[in-house]
Amino acid sequence: MLLIASDHGGLQLKQDLTRFLQQKGIEFDDLGVHEDQSVDYPDYAALVAGAVSRGEVEQGILICGTGIGMSIAANKYPGVRAALVHDEFTAQMAREHNNANILVLGGRVLKPELARRMVEVWYFGRYEGGRHQLRLDKIQRLEQPV
Ligand code: RB5
Repeated sequence: MLLIASDHGGLQLKQDLTRFLQQKGIEFDDLGVHEDQSVDYPDYAALVAGAVSRGEVEQGILICGTGIGMSIAANKYPGVRAALVHDEFTAQMAREHNNANILVLGGRVLKPELARRMVEVWYFGRYEGGRHQLRLDKIQRLEQPV
């Protein structure tokens, strides 16, 4: 199960991507926003990143205008590795090296066709583990109070 959410700046791309997820048979829950009203992206980041952080779902997709606000907000949650990606290569690396559990996209930056390919390489990609796990462990230790 994958959660997806956006603010108004990401709504159009989210609508396109939910159709794509359906076509690919990927199970998801769309947590909004559902209408073209101005909303605050941290509220939607909280819905997805909170659920990932609590272990209720494995992964999610967040979209705002640039992806910047969503990634800043989502990465406040323990255990969340939210990756703001810009092309197929960064989407692929987000999975293979960073094991990103949230993919963050810029709805005002990306063409839908590219965004679909990025979601595909991230979703179906494989985390390489090994030396990358040592680095993720170090990131996890940064979450501990000093
Ligand atoms: C909303 O106008 C815009 O600031 C938001 O979608 C996002 O780009 C923030 O990082």
